[in-house]
Amino acid sequence: MASVTLRRLTKTYDTGGTQAVADLSLDVRDGEFFVLLGPSACGKTTVLRCIAGLEEPSAGEILIGDHDVTHRSPGERDVAMVFQGHALYPHLSVRGNIAFGLEVRGVPAAETARRVEQAAERLGLTASLERRPAELSGGERQRVALGRAIVREPRVFLYDEPLSSLDPTLRGELRAELLELHHALGVTVVYVTHDQVEAMMMGQRIAVLDAGRLRQLGTPAEVYGQPADVFVARFIGNPGMNVLKGRGRGTGRSGGVVDCGAWSIAVPLEHYEGEIHLGVRPEHVRLCAPDQGTATAEVRVIEPLGADTLIHVDAGGQRVVARVGGFPDFRPGDRVGVTLDRQHLHLFDAAGARLV
Ligand SMILES: Nc1ncnc2c1ncn2[C@@H]1O[C@H](COP(=O)(O)OP(=O)(O)O)[C@@H](O)[C@H]1O
Ligand SMILES: [Mg+2]
Repeated sequence: MASVTLRRLTKTYDTGGTQAVADLSLDVRDGEFFVLLGPSACGKTTVLRCIAGLEEPSAGEILIGDHDVTHRSPGERDVAMVFQGHALYPHLSVRGNIAFGLEVRGVPAAETARRVEQAAERLGLTASLERRPAELSGGERQRVALGRAIVREPRVFLYDEPLSSLDPTLRGELRAELLELHHALGVTVVYVTHDQVEAMMMGQRIAVLDAGRLRQLGTPAEVYGQPADVFVARFIGNPGMNVLKGRGRGTGRSGGVVDCGAWSIAVPLEHYEGEIHLGVRPEHVRLCAPDQGTATAEVRVIEPLGADTLIHVDAGGQRVVARVGGFPDFRPGDRVGVTLDRQHLHLFDAAGARLV
């Protein structure tokens, strides 16, 4: 087990000159399940490959435990990487696939056999040890890939979107298994995903990346409840936060007001003048009779999810999504009243940074 520290990690690829990772500093704690979250091409895989030693950073340092491993070979780092669509050796049995990494490292046969059987037991693969990859389901193959990492007993696990090619049911099962495994092994995990739902469910802390830069690092509750900027506010949540453009005007002692399409809302900002972004999560938008809201709107789209329903409304040109319990009796074209929950408003400045 070990912590992982990145200090001002920067990676620019020679081909294309892309700056994939820019000045990234973060600490992964010993034994933590840490998630790196961001959209496609934001640099997640590059960060993992740098930690694993498969990519040379352009600048910055990487520490595993107390050791600076920035210029160490992958073999000296004691990390194991698992990625999606992990290629197994088709001609080897499950046993052979799991044992492979130990055999090439010269681990004695008896020790290899012991570790392979222990890993297979943990992953529910004992009955499949003599089968070949072609005879396995997608989920079993992913477990074999995991087994290959486990038997090496690494100090850090690096997962690169290991579940993204699986169907939703299997994903849910494997997600639970990965968390159980983390609990049982107590090993440090850096888990990469572009799926914010997965990040929220799995991460003890989440680092949100955009275009190679760290936008926010926090617990799921922090990145959801106090997003650092408009990007994080929109990216986290399913769907993300409603962000409306408006103008702030200070009114002195009584605070300020945001004029935002259909709404003029009192806000706790006394001295802010100019463009502002007003954020509100769908669960904090209330729908009611047309004459009882703080604005009126027209229902546009209705998306029932089972436990609740997403209702998209248009309020004077502003599009807002509301989350309403159960199967409410609305139809497209209905006039409704809309109120934004004053206790749960988020304010961001013109550039998108959080104000309140
Ligand atoms: N080997 C490479 N050579 C050149 N550019 C690369 C290479 N690998 C990744 N990139 C570029 O770096 C950026 C980040 O890529 P990547 O780390 O794979 O992002 P992610 O895993 O978040 O999708 C992308 O713009 C990608 O095109
Ligand atoms: Mg990637």
